[in-house]
Amino acid sequence: MAEQQPAEQAQTVTPWEVHGATVGGQQLGIDYDRLIAQFGTRPIDSALLERFAALTGRPPHRFLRRGVFFSHRDLASILDRYEQGKPFYLYTGRGPSSDSMHLGHMVPFVFCKWLQDVFDVPLVIQLTGIHALPPELTLEQCHSFAYENAKDIIACGFDVRKTFIFSDLDFVGGPFYHNVVRFARAITANQVKATFGFDNSSNVGKYHFVAVQAAPSFSNSFPHIFGEKKDIPCLIPCAIDQVYVALTCRLTIKDPYFRLTRDVAVKLKYPKPALIHAKFFPSLQGSQTKMSASVDTSAIFMNDTPKQIEKKINKYAFSGGRTTLEEQKEFGGNTEVDVAYQYLSFFMDDDEKLEEIGQGYRNGRIMTGELKKMCIEVLKEFVGDFQAKKKQLTKELVFEYMKPRALEWGKS
Ligand code: TRP
Repeated sequence: MAEQQPAEQAQTVTPWEVHGATVGGQQLGIDYDRLIAQFGTRPIDSALLERFAALTGRPPHRFLRRGVFFSHRDLASILDRYEQGKPFYLYTGRGPSSDSMHLGHMVPFVFCKWLQDVFDVPLVIQLTGIHALPPELTLEQCHSFAYENAKDIIACGFDVRKTFIFSDLDFVGGPFYHNVVRFARAITANQVKATFGFDNSSNVGKYHFVAVQAAPSFSNSFPHIFGEKKDIPCLIPCAIDQVYVALTCRLTIKDPYFRLTRDVAVKLKYPKPALIHAKFFPSLQGSQTKMSASVDTSAIFMNDTPKQIEKKINKYAFSGGRTTLEEQKEFGGNTEVDVAYQYLSFFMDDDEKLEEIGQGYRNGRIMTGELKKMCIEVLKEFVGDFQAKKKQLTKELVFEYMKPRALEWGKS
């Protein structure tokens, strides 16, 4: 059952909740410009995209063309470094809260894989421990989910020579831990509370975890990759509102978090990490409901069968269409809130075709059922390709990605 929505509700934009306004019982899309203003980040505009394309010689990824990655901090200085042939790396991560990842989780990873190819740079991926995960999860479960999730991540196609995936539960120690300690000493409980809203009943691990998630932003945390160099900056692609994908984890609005990281980086005389933020990926019920790993009908999981995908889209995907065929023909549907259309815009690469579908739906030529059918086809293909890649993974290869070792890049 979908949650009962109030008739009027303002857009909520806090570190732990992001949802569009409801006006007269109708849900609206999220106002991302407001989010940029609130977080004080920069929009990714066409000038930046043109520069990106000119420098890399590659047309921007559909996530950039369509504004899925819509906001950033210091992306321009990463492009400067690329232009000057100076090194940088990519950093992202995941809290392993379930054994299978879902479509929304894939967005930052699909994008990272593309960035890795385009920039030809190393990538580090942090799989976190449990401080910030739901209390019912045991450490052993989280540890084994980390390895399961690593497989899902690898199946996005990362180059093993340039990618290091680590679980905090195994890797933290040595120079990485030195940075955790440096960082932890540079922040106060008051700062952490102000950034995340923790209170005195939050476990102390959550406070400390702030330092653990910051450490991968500093290159000397990875001596096997960067030696003792501490001046190599990173670019962090992440979702602006992971609250919706990691449910109970309050740590996961990344920007206030990384804003703190950037401030502390200056104190520690490290370069500030650059960031690029993705829009929120709607749950099947639409942008007002949280996507939950424990509610099967809220998301398409990467291990769903074609039948399950079909059923979930047909039965649960929130429709922006009209109630009757006649009304749909006369007034058309609303692509801004239609989940099938939203999913198409994330996963269908052909701009012209997408535009045509959007127009057709809005002016009533395309019916909800047809739109859903197109969405199902695209998702089946994406999930099917992913599953085929995952099937080929051996245990040895997974361990290879997770072994601290020298990486090779910049030679192609
Ligand atoms: N805390 C994040 C989560 O629970 C995982 C994470 C760790 C992360 N480091 C990151 C996400 C860096 C983005 C970027 O999902």
